[in-house]
Amino acid sequence: MEKTLILLKPDSIQRNLSGQIINKIEQTGYKIIGMKFMILTESKAKEHYKEHVSKPFFNDLVSFITSGPLIALAIEGPNCVSKMRSIMGKTNPSESDPGTIRGDYGVSLSMNLIHGSDSVDSASRELKIFFNETELYSYEKDIDNWIL
Ligand code: RTP
Ligand code: MG
Repeated sequence: MEKTLILLKPDSIQRNLSGQIINKIEQTGYKIIGMKFMILTESKAKEHYKEHVSKPFFNDLVSFITSGPLIALAIEGPNCVSKMRSIMGKTNPSESDPGTIRGDYGVSLSMNLIHGSDSVDSASRELKIFFNETELYSYEKDIDNWIL
C-alpha cells in the first residue's frame, strides 16, 4: 500500500494548530501508521531537504525546521502521496486555495505549516529518515470497510 511522510512543521506546534491539522488528515480516511514528536537534528534536516542544498533558502529552511518540535506522521492509503499534497495546498500559502491547510492557516512561504512528500520515491526515502520499519504499524480498523 502507498505511504507518505507528513511533517507538522514547528510553526504548526507553536501556533497550536497540530490538532486541527491532524484532524483534517484523519477525516480524509487515510490511515495514520506512525507518529512522532521530535526536534529534528541538523544532520537529519539536511538529509531530508537535500534536494534543496544548492538553493539560496537552504540554510534558513534547515534553521526553521530544527527550531522547535515538529510532528512526523506516516500516512497510508491508495494515492496518498498526491492526495496529501492536494489537501496541503501550494507551497506558498498566499497562492493556496481556501480549504487547504496552507490556504486556511498560512501566510508565509517559509512558515507554511506542513510538509508532504512530493512523490512515491521521495516518500520512501523520507520515511526512512524519520521512522524505523518497526515504528510503522500495519493494523485494521473496522471503519476501513466503509472507506477502502
Ligand atoms: P515541503 O517540501 O516543505 O513540503 O514544501 P514543498 O514541497 O511544497 O516545496 P519545496 O519546493 O520542496 O520547498 C521546500 C520548502 O522551502 C521553502 N521555500 N522557500 N524562498 C523561496 O523561494 C522558497 N522556496 C521554497 C518553503 O518553505 C518550502 O516548503
Ligand atoms: Mg518539497
